[in-house]
Amino acid sequence: MTNHTSQTLPPVTVLGLGAMGQALAGAFLKAGHPTTIWNRSEGRGEDLVARGATRAATPADAVRASEVVVVCVVDYAAAQAILDQAAPEDFAGRLLVNLTSDTPERAREAAAWAARTGVDYLDGAVMVPVPMIGTADALIFHSGTRAAYEKYEATLKALGGQSAYVGEDHGLAAVYDLSVLDFFWTAMHGLVHGYALAAADGVKAAAVAPYMKVLVDLLANVVDGTARDVDSGEFPGELDNLVVEAANVEHIAHAAEHRGLDASALRGVLTVARRAIDLGHGAGNWSSSVEGIRKPA
Ligand SMILES: NC(=O)c1ccc[n+]([C@@H]2O[C@H](COP(=O)([O-])OP(=O)(O)OC[C@H]3O[C@@H](n4cnc5c(N)ncnc54)[C@H](OP(=O)(O)O)[C@@H]3O)[C@@H](O)[C@H]2O)c1
Repeated sequence: MTNHTSQTLPPVTVLGLGAMGQALAGAFLKAGHPTTIWNRSEGRGEDLVARGATRAATPADAVRASEVVVVCVVDYAAAQAILDQAAPEDFAGRLLVNLTSDTPERAREAAAWAARTGVDYLDGAVMVPVPMIGTADALIFHSGTRAAYEKYEATLKALGGQSAYVGEDHGLAAVYDLSVLDFFWTAMHGLVHGYALAAADGVKAAAVAPYMKVLVDLLANVVDGTARDVDSGEFPGELDNLVVEAANVEHIAHAAEHRGLDASALRGVLTVARRAIDLGHGAGNWSSSVEGIRKPA
């Protein structure tokens, strides 16, 4: 479509006005984009209209209204149900950006539908909670046609300053999403579990919290080295080794069980570490446990 100056930012549409869709539309409005909104149920997004958004009567009207069309709903089936209400010609000259979270497989299916239908398509995954949308620190992954991303990078960065393009394969945004959230949820379990362990001996979580932060900083420092080890398959263990580290995990699991706490995640960690040791990686560092993950029993 047209080239835009800072005075004429591309019109955008947001399909889906749940908590995240409303935040996305709000960020577009704040950045100055003419913004059209649509939601399946009535009664959502009144404040967006008050701020200048245009409410479309149908998904087809909403798609036709803008150059960039963002859909963000509960899952890909819901997104597809909305997109099927527009005709292929409604999408002509427009970029569809699906910011619904789902699996890489579903993202690739959606990309195949878009290719069959002649729709320019980017997939995406929002990595931050609602209050961070539109801030410089917000991270959103995008994957799909590089030229489409580059053309609309400034528009998409209105949603998140850390937004990152991760490759042509439309499934990649979801791959990055799953990888990062795999780490996040496992770490969150460890955080809550550590607090529960302290509480079993009458120690308040708040008393341990400052020391948790010391370990969070330590984790930040090992992120790059661990990536190097996993990518190279080399696990230098001069300073620490998996046998000693597994013994440490065993102590924690034992203490947790002794206090009547669930220790199944720690037992799972131990199972993986011991499998890696059995595979000959006992002298390697903790990264070598990846070999135990790659060869489940
Ligand atoms: N909330 C967050 O902090 C956050 C953070 C990162 C990523 N995300 C991702 O963002 C996406 C949206 O999350 P949300 O928090 O906005 O969810 P939400 O508040 O529960 O809203 C769900 C949206 O999906 C729509 N929907 C559900 N089923 C539908 C159907 N069959 N057909 C059409 N529309 C349908 C709802 O429309 P109705 O109003 O008509 O029900 C509503 O607009 C999810 O993939 C989520 O994982 C959210």
